Amino acid sequence: MEPRDIDGDLTEILIEEEQIHGRLAELCRRIEADYAGKDLLLVGVLKGAVMVMADLARELKHPIAMDWMAVSSYGSGTQSSGVVRILKDLDTDLHGRNVLIVEDIIDSGLTLSWLIANLKSRQPESVEICALLRKPDAARVDIDVKYLGFDIPNQFVVGYGLDYAEKYRNLRSVAVLAPHIYS
Ligand code: IMP
Ligand code: MG
Repeated sequence: MEPRDIDGDLTEILIEEEQIHGRLAELCRRIEADYAGKDLLLVGVLKGAVMVMADLARELKHPIAMDWMAVSSYGSGTQSSGVVRILKDLDTDLHGRNVLIVEDIIDSGLTLSWLIANLKSRQPESVEICALLRKPDAARVDIDVKYLGFDIPNQFVVGYGLDYAEKYRNLRSVAVLAPHIYS
């Protein structure tokens, strides 16, 4: 759906679909160069990374494999605690594989730092990160995001896979949710 389909629910469109596709294409050219002649396994984190994964994977001029993980972070309310439970694990043995984690957004970074440690313990050849969005708080944890789409302000955003209470994932752009929706 388009922002105009849910006009009153949004205050601002942060990133248009065309900008997302343009930026993903740039990242794909770098990924292709970095992994030339190597195997590559994209690991998507459900459910938010579904759109990034679909567009990134199709833009890559490089054969890849795809796998998925679902995790939930224990914690009070909306605060990520860093204690993570695996809801769905990978089907793939990571031994000797080049893994690229595909994420929608890095906020506190706690979920991702747990995930990196977890995947690295499975003897892969390499583990890198590709994230579409990053919020300012992510700077507080030491995560090296090799392929980053956009740095965004500290606002709650929806669309392009990102939800509020499981809604708005199918919005084509990334937009700021109007405060009256969650109050
Ligand atoms: P953290 O980096 O451990 O704090 O958790 C990041 C996760 O929180 C993301 O994968 C999203 O599922 C969710 N999240 C963080 N910020 C937003 C937002 O602005 N909109 C929607 N989901 C968000
Ligand atoms: Mg997520």
